[in-house]
Amino acid sequence: MNILLLGSGGREHAIAWKISQSKKVNNLYIAPGNAGTQNVGTNLPFAADDFENIQKAVIEKQIDMVVVGPEDPLVKGVYDYFKNNEKLKNIPVIGPSKEGAQLEGSKDFSKQFMFRHNIPTARYLSVTTENLDEGLSFLKQLKAPYVLKADGLAAGKGVLIINDLKEAEAELKNMLDGKFGAASSTVVIEEFLSGIECSVFVLTDGIDYKILPVAKDYKRIGEGDKGLNTGGMGAVSPVSFADESFMQKVEERIIRPTIEGLKAEKIDYKGFIFFGLINVENNPYTIEYNARMGDPETEAVMLRIKSDLVDLLEGVAQQDLKNRQLEIDERFAVTVMLVSGGYPEAYEKGKEINGIENVKESIVFHAGTTIKDGKILTNGGRVIAISSYGKTKEEALAQSFKGAQTISFDKKYFRSDIGFDL
Ligand code: AMP
Ligand code: GLY
Repeated sequence: MNILLLGSGGREHAIAWKISQSKKVNNLYIAPGNAGTQNVGTNLPFAADDFENIQKAVIEKQIDMVVVGPEDPLVKGVYDYFKNNEKLKNIPVIGPSKEGAQLEGSKDFSKQFMFRHNIPTARYLSVTTENLDEGLSFLKQLKAPYVLKADGLAAGKGVLIINDLKEAEAELKNMLDGKFGAASSTVVIEEFLSGIECSVFVLTDGIDYKILPVAKDYKRIGEGDKGLNTGGMGAVSPVSFADESFMQKVEERIIRPTIEGLKAEKIDYKGFIFFGLINVENNPYTIEYNARMGDPETEAVMLRIKSDLVDLLEGVAQQDLKNRQLEIDERFAVTVMLVSGGYPEAYEKGKEINGIENVKESIVFHAGTTIKDGKILTNGGRVIAISSYGKTKEEALAQSFKGAQTISFDKKYFRSDIGFDL
């Protein structure tokens, strides 16, 4: 079959790498892709949320399945666009409906959903200018630190964690005044949960589900998890504390009620669900949902899926996922991200990248790269993900760090302590 994958990051290169190994695939297209995805498929030059060009490509290239990488097209309703279009309605889109994508697109929606289905999560209050006073008194009832979240998508920047009550009150007002544009016209105030986080991924066909390998990502720019938040500096899978007994609680208290809740509410959801979880004294709580896979977690998780991913995706499309096999590699898989100096603040693009071909014992996934006159150039903050297997986490990390030294570009930076807390 012919597959179109939407997106352009490291996550999409990793998914494309895995899809391209399937015997079921004739042609794989990636829109827009990056300098790495073109080694495993054909890049198409339009944005992942350019529905008109997606439609054109799907017809021209006789696409049999569309796989959505990032959240934007999902929240904008790419699934519904296909479903409501005579020419496209029989082509499966792997990803939730616009309504289902609200689990990620609106924090207020997702918190209400969790409370309706008794899914463990932090206490909260949703605030607009209409009930600001209520919001301020809710803040007073909580203990520091205070968690303020823009309701809508804010490019991963919409969550503030503030130690001082006065500052939290001021920031609440700033957010309602448009600090994150329309995304923060509603603010979710949450009780702070203290614990260690992990990312659990599920693939669902709306009836059944498969739990993919668990991972942990490292979001801060600095070693020891210090400094500004980034899109993710590395990932490790499996996660030591997410053992059988913990995962059993996750499945019983969080995954199953979520799938059952979607079903009960007739929310069309056939795709990946990313559960951002926190372990509070061995009990899992849901911090957030995402309607997609994580990045950079995917660059580790894909290494651990032994089965044919396309067979699983076909199971999602045909709603017979329970008859498909998911076999997991027992080994560790890790990812170390090479980023542009200055990221996540201002950084330069267009730096020549060398040495990729000399990395033999890791898998190199491109994130922010482009190709110009035969040269591979940096084209984003997160540039390259170096993924490796190992019998232990340390062995896998040593491989990735070796790869990180082998690849060079001006002002390259990476964290050399990925996995330090596990
Ligand atoms: P979110 O976008 O909701 O995942 O929030 C971003 C990050 O903020 C999370 O990965 C957590 O590290 C942190 N965070 C969010 N909500 C809470 C909470 N209620 N308690 C503690 N930390 C939180
Ligand atoms: N790694 C976190 C995310 O993809 O949102």
